[in-house]
Amino acid sequence: MSDVVNPSKDNFDSFCGYHQTWQGGSITELTQVGPGTPCGEYLRRYWHPVSITAELGDKPKLIKILGEELVLFRDKSGQYGLVHKRCPHRRASLEFGSCAERGIQCCYHGWVFDVDGSVLDIPGEPEGSVSAINVQNKLRLGAYPVKEFNGLLFAYLGPIEELPEFPIYDTFDIPGMTMTPYAGPFNCNWIQVLDAIVDPVHTAFLHQSQFSDGFGALGEIEFYEKNKVRFFGTASRRVDDNIWVRVNELVLPNFTQAGSAFAVDGTQTKYFGRSAFTRWVVPVDDKHCIAFAWGNFGERGDPHEYNTPEGMQLIEQGELFDRSYEEKQASPGDVEAVESMGSISDHEKENLVSGDRGIAMYRAQIKKNIRNMQKGKRPPQPGVLAGSNGNGVIPTYGSDTVLKIPGLEDERDILKSTNKQVMDILFAADELTGDDRDRSIISQLKNIK
Ligand code: FES
Ligand SMILES: [Fe+2]
Repeated sequence: MSDVVNPSKDNFDSFCGYHQTWQGGSITELTQVGPGTPCGEYLRRYWHPVSITAELGDKPKLIKILGEELVLFRDKSGQYGLVHKRCPHRRASLEFGSCAERGIQCCYHGWVFDVDGSVLDIPGEPEGSVSAINVQNKLRLGAYPVKEFNGLLFAYLGPIEELPEFPIYDTFDIPGMTMTPYAGPFNCNWIQVLDAIVDPVHTAFLHQSQFSDGFGALGEIEFYEKNKVRFFGTASRRVDDNIWVRVNELVLPNFTQAGSAFAVDGTQTKYFGRSAFTRWVVPVDDKHCIAFAWGNFGERGDPHEYNTPEGMQLIEQGELFDRSYEEKQASPGDVEAVESMGSISDHEKENLVSGDRGIAMYRAQIKKNIRNMQKGKRPPQPGVLAGSNGNGVIPTYGSDTVLKIPGLEDERDILKSTNKQVMDILFAADELTGDDRDRSIISQLKNIK
């Protein structure tokens, strides 16, 4: 007698693959970013980083942001410009043009456009040409405002009458911190990348061996929301005799900070250590996005040894970007997790649980903002979070705090109450900025027992 079991005798009743092969339709309200789409219009009400300044040389650079192909340049007088790709004369791409003393010059017939899109010169036309004068008076090349800040170029792609203030976050200026710009490209929709910032559960699984052992503990997860603009995913973990409270934050629509990647592992006390990165997840189009950021190095951030191109890839996603398939399978990073969802993940097919509350909360708020916009209400800017002290600086929270609190029997309650005490102290200091805020927060954190 053979030992082979006849499969027909097995019970396969619970297998249901056949009934799940339907393709379904993804919800596009959050994933479409092009001009005229609901979310694309919403995103066009904010400043976004669009390039690392040092990557812009003396030639124009073709970029794609929010589904628009655009040409970024710096003219010889130092002005930055971001203009529609096609020359309005006969449609040649301005990426092949040249940076003029003032503005950009098309390669084909030499028309020159200023950074605001006005026509400065039509050199092939005779003096007094009526058609040329008419064009110069009436025509504008599509152009967007650009602002250089600390090695990143930011642009605003929305209606100029709604131009918001450029937001200044407190982490833009931390004494002793070295901020190095980086860009991490992802071949998928921006929401997939953004989700991870308010998903402290994933760090315990995806990143446990990439940063430190402490990351492997799930601990107690808590979510917070403030002013309908700011969302937090926090984790309180036990590491030996310490409790490590890590705070990840999202300011809508796409500003993110966390704790450090390598400086803190939960074994040493730490009071309000700051974020490894100050970062925006910027849609390129519906199927691509780029995390533009500064890596933050120094006593309050990550160690200087990680201030290298490779170090910043590790900070961004736990692993290097360019690896073999075998390496990726052996130790996947965020890129593998989020790109493998497909270029536009189908939110309808997700099954969210309590650990996904952070993403459910912020996605719902973006949808609400989009719908309010459609009724004529402007979406809230990060500036609403600035303290009332009048300097306009927005306090941020992405941080690590490690407190010496030995383990007791009611461990869950202690983790939860420590988390709440830390967050209450952070929230209560919103009216202060800079050193004053830090000193106030740190002295109170030290009193938690
Ligand atoms: S197409 Fe640009 S100047 Fe003619
Ligand atoms: Fe991650």
